Amino acid sequence: MNDLSLCAAMLDALRDPAMIIDAEERISALNGAMKALAPSARPGDALSLALRAPDMLDAVRRVLVGGKAETANWREHVPVERVFDVFVSPLDIDPEKRCAVVTMRDLTDIKRMERMRVDFIANVSHELRTPLASLLGFVETLQGPARDDPRARDQFLGIMGEQGRRMSRLIDDLLSLSRVEQRQHLRPSACVDLVSVARQVIDGFAPIAPERRVTLILHAPETLNVVGDRDELIRLAENLIGNAIKYGSLPDQDTNVEISLAVLGSDARLRVRDHGAGIPREHIPRLTERFYRVDATASRANGGTGLGLALVKHILMRHRGRLEIASNPGDGANFDAFLPMS
Ligand SMILES: Nc1ncnc2c1ncn2[C@@H]1O[C@H](COP(=O)(O)OP(=O)(O)OP(=O)(O)O)[C@@H](O)[C@H]1O
Ligand SMILES: [Mg+2]
Repeated sequence: MNDLSLCAAMLDALRDPAMIIDAEERISALNGAMKALAPSARPGDALSLALRAPDMLDAVRRVLVGGKAETANWREHVPVERVFDVFVSPLDIDPEKRCAVVTMRDLTDIKRMERMRVDFIANVSHELRTPLASLLGFVETLQGPARDDPRARDQFLGIMGEQGRRMSRLIDDLLSLSRVEQRQHLRPSACVDLVSVARQVIDGFAPIAPERRVTLILHAPETLNVVGDRDELIRLAENLIGNAIKYGSLPDQDTNVEISLAVLGSDARLRVRDHGAGIPREHIPRLTERFYRVDATASRANGGTGLGLALVKHILMRHRGRLEIASNPGDGANFDAFLPMS
């Protein structure tokens, strides 16, 4: 085995994409991860033709001439946007003909997590800032102009109470979300009757549904047992049914929300169907993202923070189940939660 083929064999042992570029700027060896990244690249190809990566090519040229290691970035746009950190170092096996070793590190996930973290903090702060500003505003008014006005005082205290509850609901939702996420890998093991879960949640909404002129109708067998965590399944049903009442009601009109439980193969299916305005198609794939709302103003007016469906998704993931959402704008929405029965 000569030195170069030894180097090529070593490349194959690396998990990250890597290749050796010879003094003529041609690929002399590439490993499996690199082939996966650039399927058309072959040993012998000119680097400039094999990959569209001008910064990498410039770095390789400088390394071949100067013999000092360099870093560069490479962005791949197809099929999905990916970002790589590229490290180019000299390989001086043959003193006459310097080569370069290119190794790449996929930064896509790290960048995505970073962006999620930044977005998350921005969203939480934004959601807390509005009620907090309103609370502080009312405190000032109560200390000043409204000090001796009992009617205004009662009204303002009512609003302040509502804003306080809003903030506390947001914190509760965030905590539930992180608790479910923390236990994601621990599959629940209790036996839970979904029918009794649905009944309990429906009873809980009994005072609220008529205010919106919504009638809740349950279609269910006697019992339907799944393996699960009862509290989490209650949160799940509360969110789906609560959304159907909030967003599925119609102004000045009676409507129904149907909740049905059925067995489908090895899964139990909880279906919540409303007959409200529905959801435009382009929003559907994003509904389970944290803080995502089709109409943020309408949701906020309903006391929503956009965390409900994110929680539903995580609860279903922990239960090894899944959520399917369908809607024809103008004819309501249909949310199906599937849960394995054993
Ligand atoms: N049945 C439905 N019909 C129409 N739109 C819906 C329905 N369910 C959810 N949506 C839309 O999806 C968005 C996200 O729902 P999600 O439950 O995550 O948040 P939310 O209800 O706004 O707030 P939260 O659940 O935290 O109180 C809602 O703001 C609403 O725009
Ligand atoms: Mg909700």
